[in-house]
Amino acid sequence: MNQAVSGFSKLSKEEKIAWIATTYFSTPENAIEVLKNYWNSDEKIQKLHDEFIENTISNFYIPLGVAPNFLINGKFKTIPMAIEESSVVAAASKAAKFWSTRGGFTTRVINTEKIGQVHFIFNGATEKLNAFFSKIKNDLFTETESITKNMQARGGGILDIILKDKTDVIPNYYQLHVSFETKDSMGANFINSCLEQFAKTLKEKASGYELFSETEKDIQIVMSILSNYVPNCLVRAEVSCPIADLKEKHITNPQEFAEKFVQAVRIAEVEPFRAVTHNKGIMNGVDAVVLATGNDFRAVEAGVHAYASRNGQYASLSHAKIENGVFSFWMEIPLALGTVGGLTSLHPLVKLALEMLEKPSAQELMQIVAVAGLAQNFAALRSLTTTGIQDGHMKMHLNNILNQFDATEDERIAVRNHFKNQTVSHSAVVDLMNQLRN
Ligand code: MEV
Repeated sequence: MNQAVSGFSKLSKEEKIAWIATTYFSTPENAIEVLKNYWNSDEKIQKLHDEFIENTISNFYIPLGVAPNFLINGKFKTIPMAIEESSVVAAASKAAKFWSTRGGFTTRVINTEKIGQVHFIFNGATEKLNAFFSKIKNDLFTETESITKNMQARGGGILDIILKDKTDVIPNYYQLHVSFETKDSMGANFINSCLEQFAKTLKEKASGYELFSETEKDIQIVMSILSNYVPNCLVRAEVSCPIADLKEKHITNPQEFAEKFVQAVRIAEVEPFRAVTHNKGIMNGVDAVVLATGNDFRAVEAGVHAYASRNGQYASLSHAKIENGVFSFWMEIPLALGTVGGLTSLHPLVKLALEMLEKPSAQELMQIVAVAGLAQNFAALRSLTTTGIQDGHMKMHLNNILNQFDATEDERIAVRNHFKNQTVSHSAVVDLMNQLRN
């Protein structure tokens, strides 16, 4: 098939599936069966999913797991995680249990400011634009009142609007750089609506401003959009305990463990190749909770990685130290999250996840997500600096290999028993399965 299709979105769901199946599959019936196997038997739920996006043909499942025993600021939480990677929930649960008997996680929201920008071109003298901006700044607020009214009633709204001269990077380029407080909503629609109104007001007022020349009056709006870089929407999560208390099965020498752990973090602080993988481990925890709670994980990913590069070189998001015999491990990350609006009231599993978390405010959710990230990072570094990562990873991955073989219950028991005290590798499992089957 190397032809475009027209009017695809107007076809019914059945017609879309039929087209896909006959165009791309040698056995269309099988393709249709696979797609339909993942339809929800509850028509209402299926309709909901159909309408989330355009051209829905089926649902794409990933597991929803839970990691219990997270002691956060003195309260126990069970954290929902939506993720496909086999070892992540197990690692989170292990880290949670470990820290639950060592004081737990302490967290703090540092700030909750969101950002949006109107990017525009002004052909004229910067001083005149500055004077014009001072004159109309108040109008920017008043002309968005119908949009901000409800948000203001909830304690949020527009915090400030500043004019930024960016002509040093692009000729005639300026911005309205706006900060917002959006309380429990992620605020994307609110911010973008405000920005589009600012753009309108800016253009209109400029066209009637007597002190501008004809060219100056003609402000060109390039775009109005929120920024997913939110360095002032920041949360901190931390664990710490006396070094001696770190002792457990895999940590026989706590002093040595703590030193090696700090060294591993130090490497991620200065070495970008390691930092990316180190932070990927943090995002294993962060994304899983962000997704389970119906938040935009792409936005979070983009913002967090930009933050990891804020000093000019990509670096570790977490830090560790030993001071006066106490081991501390912490991180600060930007998280723009919501617990109202968006998917939070639409997706039944998201609603359930938020209820499991005892209906957190956005600030509480920021703290929970940061904890999941830090726990994940702790679990990864603990494995990496002690047993190595493959031991745990492959034990969890064993199920996937057995599923590839469509192993029977007896085969599964035999294989699991065999690998109880042996290193799991893909080829070792394949060999054993072949042996069992012969
Ligand atoms: C795997 O998904 C994540 C790790 O690679 C993280 C790390 O290396 O720190 C284990």
